[in-house]
Amino acid sequence: MYATYTETVLDHARNPRNVGSLDDANVVVQVGDPDCGDTLLLFMRIEQDRIADIRFLIKGCGAAIATASMGTELVAGKTVNEALLVTDQTVTAALGGLPEDKEHCSNLIASALHAAINQYISTITGQSAPIDYTVEMRDRA
Ligand code: FES
Repeated sequence: MYATYTETVLDHARNPRNVGSLDDANVVVQVGDPDCGDTLLLFMRIEQDRIADIRFLIKGCGAAIATASMGTELVAGKTVNEALLVTDQTVTAALGGLPEDKEHCSNLIASALHAAINQYISTITGQSAPIDYTVEMRDRA
Protein backbone atom coordinates (compact mmCIF):
# COMPACT_ATOMS: atom_id res chain seq x y z
CA MET A 1 0.00 0.00 0.00
CA TYR A 2 1.28 3.46 -0.89
CA ALA A 3 0.17 6.68 0.77
CA THR A 4 1.53 8.96 -1.91
CA TYR A 5 2.18 8.88 -5.64
CA THR A 6 5.49 7.51 -6.89
CA GLU A 7 7.74 9.63 -9.07
CA THR A 8 6.79 7.42 -12.02
CA VAL A 9 3.09 8.12 -11.47
CA LEU A 10 3.75 11.85 -11.23
CA ASP A 11 5.84 11.78 -14.40
CA HIS A 12 3.14 9.98 -16.41
CA ALA A 13 0.38 12.20 -14.98
CA ARG A 14 2.28 15.38 -15.83
CA ASN A 15 3.67 14.18 -19.17
CA PRO A 16 1.32 11.49 -20.43
CA ARG A 17 2.51 9.45 -23.40
CA ASN A 18 0.36 8.53 -26.40
CA VAL A 19 -2.28 11.22 -25.87
CA GLY A 20 -4.50 12.03 -28.84
CA SER A 21 -6.55 10.25 -31.47
CA LEU A 22 -5.69 8.16 -34.53
CA ASP A 23 -7.31 8.93 -37.86
CA ASP A 24 -6.31 5.50 -39.15
CA ALA A 25 -7.36 3.49 -36.09
CA ASN A 26 -9.04 0.18 -36.85
CA VAL A 27 -10.23 -0.25 -33.26
CA VAL A 28 -11.84 2.41 -31.06
CA VAL A 29 -13.39 1.75 -27.68
CA GLN A 30 -14.75 3.87 -24.87
CA VAL A 31 -14.92 2.76 -21.26
CA GLY A 32 -16.20 4.58 -18.24
CA ASP A 33 -16.25 4.18 -14.52
CA PRO A 34 -19.88 4.61 -13.48
CA ASP A 35 -18.91 5.47 -9.90
CA CYS A 36 -16.61 8.43 -10.55
CA GLY A 37 -17.70 9.32 -14.09
CA ASP A 38 -14.19 9.14 -15.56
CA THR A 39 -14.08 8.13 -19.21
CA LEU A 40 -11.34 6.83 -21.50
CA LEU A 41 -11.40 6.69 -25.30
CA LEU A 42 -8.79 4.34 -26.77
CA PHE A 43 -7.63 4.22 -30.40
CA MET A 44 -5.52 1.39 -31.82
CA ARG A 45 -4.18 0.51 -35.21
CA ILE A 46 -3.51 -3.20 -35.24
CA GLU A 47 -1.59 -4.65 -38.16
CA GLN A 48 -1.03 -8.40 -38.51
CA ASP A 49 -1.95 -8.97 -34.86
CA ARG A 50 0.52 -6.36 -33.64
CA ILE A 51 -0.36 -3.01 -32.05
CA ALA A 52 1.24 -0.68 -34.59
CA ASP A 53 -0.01 2.52 -32.96
CA ILE A 54 -2.07 3.53 -29.94
CA ARG A 55 -3.50 6.78 -28.53
CA PHE A 56 -5.96 7.78 -25.85
CA LEU A 57 -8.16 10.66 -24.78
CA ILE A 58 -9.37 10.83 -21.22
CA LYS A 59 -11.57 12.74 -18.84
CA GLY A 60 -10.28 11.55 -15.53
CA CYS A 61 -8.18 11.92 -12.43
CA GLY A 62 -4.39 12.09 -12.35
CA ALA A 63 -4.08 8.39 -11.55
CA ALA A 64 -6.32 7.53 -14.51
CA ILE A 65 -4.11 9.65 -16.78
CA ALA A 66 -0.92 8.05 -15.45
CA THR A 67 -2.27 4.51 -15.75
CA ALA A 68 -3.56 5.14 -19.29
CA SER A 69 -0.16 6.54 -20.25
CA MET A 70 1.70 3.56 -18.77
CA GLY A 71 -0.79 1.02 -20.10
CA THR A 72 -0.42 2.30 -23.65
CA GLU A 73 3.36 2.28 -23.29
CA LEU A 74 3.29 -1.33 -22.12
CA VAL A 75 1.37 -2.60 -25.15
CA ALA A 76 2.71 -0.39 -27.96
CA GLY A 77 4.40 -2.61 -30.53
CA LYS A 78 3.27 -5.82 -28.80
CA THR A 79 1.17 -8.59 -30.29
CA VAL A 80 -2.46 -8.80 -29.25
CA ASN A 81 -1.67 -11.97 -27.26
CA GLU A 82 1.10 -10.18 -25.39
CA ALA A 83 -1.15 -7.18 -24.78
CA LEU A 84 -3.88 -9.39 -23.33
CA LEU A 85 -1.47 -10.26 -20.50
CA VAL A 86 -1.45 -6.62 -19.36
CA THR A 87 -3.85 -6.20 -16.45
CA ASP A 88 -4.68 -3.46 -13.99
CA GLN A 89 -2.11 -5.01 -11.62
CA THR A 90 0.54 -5.01 -14.36
CA VAL A 91 -0.03 -1.32 -15.01
CA THR A 92 -0.03 -0.45 -11.31
CA ALA A 93 3.18 -2.42 -10.73
CA ALA A 94 4.90 -0.69 -13.68
CA LEU A 95 4.11 2.64 -12.04
CA GLY A 96 5.64 1.49 -8.75
CA GLY A 97 2.25 1.23 -7.07
CA LEU A 98 -0.71 3.51 -6.40
CA PRO A 99 -2.31 4.75 -3.19
CA GLU A 100 -4.91 2.21 -2.08
CA ASP A 101 -7.84 4.51 -2.81
CA LYS A 102 -6.53 5.02 -6.37
CA GLU A 103 -5.82 1.41 -7.33
CA HIS A 104 -9.17 1.12 -9.11
CA CYS A 105 -8.14 3.84 -11.58
CA SER A 106 -5.96 1.35 -13.47
CA ASN A 107 -9.13 -0.56 -14.38
CA LEU A 108 -9.99 2.03 -17.02
CA ILE A 109 -7.00 1.34 -19.27
CA ALA A 110 -6.95 -2.40 -18.55
CA SER A 111 -10.62 -2.69 -19.47
CA ALA A 112 -10.13 -0.55 -22.57
CA LEU A 113 -7.16 -2.60 -23.78
CA HIS A 114 -9.03 -5.86 -23.39
CA ALA A 115 -12.19 -4.43 -24.99
CA ALA A 116 -10.21 -3.11 -27.95
CA ILE A 117 -8.46 -6.42 -28.55
CA ASN A 118 -11.75 -8.25 -28.16
CA GLN A 119 -13.25 -5.92 -30.77
CA TYR A 120 -10.33 -6.58 -33.11
CA ILE A 121 -10.63 -10.36 -32.69
CA SER A 122 -14.38 -10.14 -33.23
CA THR A 123 -13.79 -8.21 -36.43
CA ILE A 124 -11.32 -10.65 -37.94
CA THR A 125 -13.29 -13.73 -36.88
CA GLY A 126 -16.61 -12.26 -37.93
CA GLN A 127 -18.08 -13.03 -34.53
CA SER A 128 -19.48 -10.11 -32.65
CA ALA A 129 -18.94 -10.23 -28.93
CA PRO A 130 -20.80 -7.29 -27.47
CA ILE A 131 -19.48 -6.81 -23.98
CA ASP A 132 -20.26 -3.88 -21.72
CA TYR A 133 -16.90 -3.21 -20.14
CA THR A 134 -18.39 -0.47 -18.03
CA VAL A 135 -20.09 -3.11 -15.92
CA GLU A 136 -17.23 -5.60 -16.37
CA MET A 137 -14.80 -3.40 -14.52
CA ARG A 138 -13.38 -5.05 -11.46
CA ASP A 139 -14.22 -4.31 -7.87
CA ARG A 140 -13.32 -0.88 -6.74
CA ALA A 141 -10.82 -0.60 -3.90
FE1 FES B 1 -12.15 7.75 -11.47
FE2 FES B 1 -9.54 7.69 -10.84
S1 FES B 1 -11.18 8.48 -9.64
S2 FES B 1 -10.56 6.73 -12.51
